[in-house]
Amino acid sequence: MPTSIVLGTGRAVPGRVVTNDEFSGSMDTSDEWIRTRTGIRERRWISPGETGVDLGLEATRQALAAAGMQPGELDAIIYATITPDHFLPGNGVYLQTRLGLGPIPAIDLRMQCAGFVYALSVADAFIRGGMYRRVLVVGQEIQSTRMDVSPKGRHTAVLFADGAGAAILGATDEPGRGILAFDLHSDGAFAEKLWVEEPGSLHNPTISADRYEAGTYFLQMDGKEVFRHAVHRMPESVRTCLDRLGLAPSEIALLIPHQANMRISEMVQRELGLADSQVYNNIERYGNTTSATIPIALDECVRAGRVAPGDLVALTAFGSGFVWGSVVMRW
Ligand code: COA
Repeated sequence: MPTSIVLGTGRAVPGRVVTNDEFSGSMDTSDEWIRTRTGIRERRWISPGETGVDLGLEATRQALAAAGMQPGELDAIIYATITPDHFLPGNGVYLQTRLGLGPIPAIDLRMQCAGFVYALSVADAFIRGGMYRRVLVVGQEIQSTRMDVSPKGRHTAVLFADGAGAAILGATDEPGRGILAFDLHSDGAFAEKLWVEEPGSLHNPTISADRYEAGTYFLQMDGKEVFRHAVHRMPESVRTCLDRLGLAPSEIALLIPHQANMRISEMVQRELGLADSQVYNNIERYGNTTSATIPIALDECVRAGRVAPGDLVALTAFGSGFVWGSVVMRW
């Protein structure tokens, strides 16, 4: 049975840098509060005219170039996003057209901050099952357009941001290489701890003028509850993968935790007993780009030479749902 390896990675973020100081005028916050509570110094938000698919396309082009592939060599697209450019169809089909591809499957997957890990699991299943040999996996979000930048939204607007990352998974028959284990979970009992209530088909019309005025389309979050679960679930999930493989955290060469809050990443690191050199964080520069945090960070690591063949790489994520999960691979 083939396993999946990463053939190439790419990333794209908007050119517009939004610093913490830009928020302090409008929403009763400060650079100091944001830095000490979250680790974020700046993030990227799109400018008018830029789209999510633009970012997904740029990340994909880089991943294809890194893999030495032409778009036509892709067998399928798995596009993780909860912020598609339109309510329907999803961004996958737009990316497919922009790449000039024939009618290959373009699957949109919405698993919030765990979107990229879940998308990898789908791509890996296609490859292991022998159905496809080269699958493009994209994680991309535009969160800035659903942020409340009034003082009421200060606990979320400072956290979330825009970006895209991509990876191409390919089949290999080399024993011991590639994706070795997944661990995936969800628990809908906590769905409303981090959610966007509307627009939704529960309402007719999907959002009414008065609900719009009430701001029900903004992201709403119980930050403390999310924090409490995230710091527990991510390390637990990494350990589950490692236990299944008979490996120890000390053998991890690189862990990329979903970039939600630097304090969460530090607690995940501590819980797993990892050294700073084993963990990569970039939340300082990008904030939380939801399904894009892990592929953006992975691409930075690959391009900086932080991963070498034979390295044990772990990715772990937690997000709205709650959903969470991890993947462990031998690079
Ligand atoms: N600037 C200044 N003050 C702010 C603020 C901001 N941007 N956001 C919130 N505050 C205030 C609160 O209103 C509160 O004030 P009060 O004590 O007068 O009521 C105070 O800071 C403390 O708020 P609290 O929510 O207790 O802070 P916290 O230490 O829990 O940090 C988060 C808030 C959002 C940073 C933190 O809970 C968090 O990161 N949670 C996880 C969020 C997350 O990762 N979400 C995505 C998961 S995928």
